[in-house]
Amino acid sequence: MKTIAQVIEGKTAPIATVEAGSTVLDALKQLAIHNIGAVLVTEAGSLAGIFSERDYARRVVLQGRTSAFTPVRDVMTAKLVHVTPHCTVEEAMQLMTDRRVRHLPVLDDAGTLVGIVSIGDMVKETIAYQQFLIAQLEAYITT
Ligand SMILES: NC(=O)c1ccc[n+]([C@@H]2O[C@H](COP(=O)([O-])OP(=O)(O)OC[C@H]3O[C@@H](n4cnc5c(N)ncnc54)[C@H](O)[C@@H]3O)[C@@H](O)[C@H]2O)c1
Repeated sequence: MKTIAQVIEGKTAPIATVEAGSTVLDALKQLAIHNIGAVLVTEAGSLAGIFSERDYARRVVLQGRTSAFTPVRDVMTAKLVHVTPHCTVEEAMQLMTDRRVRHLPVLDDAGTLVGIVSIGDMVKETIAYQQFLIAQLEAYITT
């Protein structure tokens, strides 16, 4: 199974972020422009949280807040669950399952943000790995 370092190596899109003081509307525009489900939130150059479609549904819509006037810092998830590049896809998937999150920022040993992985990335890698194993077993059986 691949490591998270190998997964983010293959990514070409930059990490999408918004400033904590941006409005929810600005964050939603970023989600739409990049066709993603979550943006990382930065404050004074540091990683401060993550804002996802789920945060929007539960903390903005359900609480009657207005997207154009609500700063992202008021509705983001500040308690971040993250992975390191050394983690395997399997470990990251386990973490997503246990903590019920769909996006994990990737922080290196120095704590620097180096990427983000989603549940879709993990599913894609897992399917590819299973297909590889099946091909190997088929080759073994037919030789
Ligand atoms: N075929 C593929 O390569 C692939 C990979 C991932 C997701 N998907 C599909 O996309 C759909 C939605 O995926 P999802 O729910 O996993 O999450 P998502 O829509 O948030 O993520 C889609 C892709 O964008 C990337 N991404 C997410 N947030 C980002 C950010 N802030 N900055 C930079 N990149 C970011 C993810 O790593 C992932 O590769 C699903 O239907 C999934 O199956 C396909």
